[in-house]
Amino acid sequence: MKIEEIISLDKQYYINVFGDRIPLAFEKGKGCILYDTEGREYLDFISGISVCNLGHGHPKFVEALKDQVEKLLHTSSLFYIENQALLAKKLCEISPFDRVFFCNSGAEANEAAIKLARNYFYKKGSSRYKIITLLNSFHGRTLATTAATGQKKYQKPFEPMPEGFLNVEADIDMIKEAIDDKTAAVMIELVQAEGGIKVLEKEFVGKIYDLCKDNGIFFIIDEVQTGIGRCGSLFCFEQYGIVPDIITLAKGLGNGIPIGAMLCKKEVTSFEPGEHGSTFGGNLLATRAALEVLNIIEEENIIENVNRMSSYLKQRLSELKETFNFIADVRGLGLLIGVEFSFPVKDLVKELALNGLLTSSCGGGNVIRFAPPLIVEKHHIDRAIEIFKEVVKRYDNMGRA
Ligand SMILES: Cc1ncc(COP(=O)(O)O)c(C=O)c1O
Repeated sequence: MKIEEIISLDKQYYINVFGDRIPLAFEKGKGCILYDTEGREYLDFISGISVCNLGHGHPKFVEALKDQVEKLLHTSSLFYIENQALLAKKLCEISPFDRVFFCNSGAEANEAAIKLARNYFYKKGSSRYKIITLLNSFHGRTLATTAATGQKKYQKPFEPMPEGFLNVEADIDMIKEAIDDKTAAVMIELVQAEGGIKVLEKEFVGKIYDLCKDNGIFFIIDEVQTGIGRCGSLFCFEQYGIVPDIITLAKGLGNGIPIGAMLCKKEVTSFEPGEHGSTFGGNLLATRAALEVLNIIEEENIIENVNRMSSYLKQRLSELKETFNFIADVRGLGLLIGVEFSFPVKDLVKELALNGLLTSSCGGGNVIRFAPPLIVEKHHIDRAIEIFKEVVKRYDNMGRA
């Protein structure tokens, strides 16, 4: 189908929640390359927003999915599911957690974490139910996770927000002040990704951890975007020298097959039969996909590659910061890297895409996010930098092309 026809159908039938999208549609992919409906090639440096961590069409991943599709897709939670049990075991073996719940997305994983925190204290006869999150955070689009997301623009059109969420400045005294005898948990991202690739400092996170311990409340880390190798360790919290009570995963866990997960310590597992669930969560296909993702990450030393390529990409982008005075900052962890401009980057991101380099904007619109597949190689980065330089040099420091 021609792109014009796709756009026309979309405009007529799809609810326009995404605004004017970049006028491209992709048909095939191989590794870090996507091919559009006209057969043109693009370097994928966004990975479906930190999802396709193994790149496109990874042979072992494709084989595993084909095998599973031929055998069986879904049987429901009425019965035991071998892949689900195996994936739960694997996640517990590679993390400090003992129990897992599967769902279909990041928002749902966070919902599970919020419900578990409330459930735990309810079962203890405590009146703790409030969740403290940070301003500028992003935790999802359900009502509860919108309330958890500390950005007014997402909340305003849906007010009143569900009760029990406090969005607090990323300041340890403010968090301390916000905690009271009704607080059940503090939930944070270690890198505020949608918020502009803002990396939280180790010392600050350590202090939040101490506050949670001192107050007997949960520390929940939303690893939906930072987890599964994206930031240079399997879980980002490993770089912070703390172990939270609960983490949530999605995005890269399924490499494009929808799956979310909540991992927690067994001491906090208060859910009883019937209190939570999901029709599709952890079905045969999704859990097979995630099992294969974790195997491939181990077998192919992918995290080592993330760290090598992260240094190289950051170094190349930092060189450009010296060349273009309207590049204000280059920051990030692993292969989740933000380049901050002194002007809004929406047009620039579109121009980059039309010139063959796929990225996205974040952080209120001034930051370009680079999140290539974790299998990215040096030659892909060199080509990406060439395109980036070529396009960026057409702009002046007011953001005019
Ligand atoms: C940190 C974080 N949490 C939660 C979500 C929501 O995930 P989903 O869109 O899968 O519901 C996102 C999505 O971007 C995210 O980045």
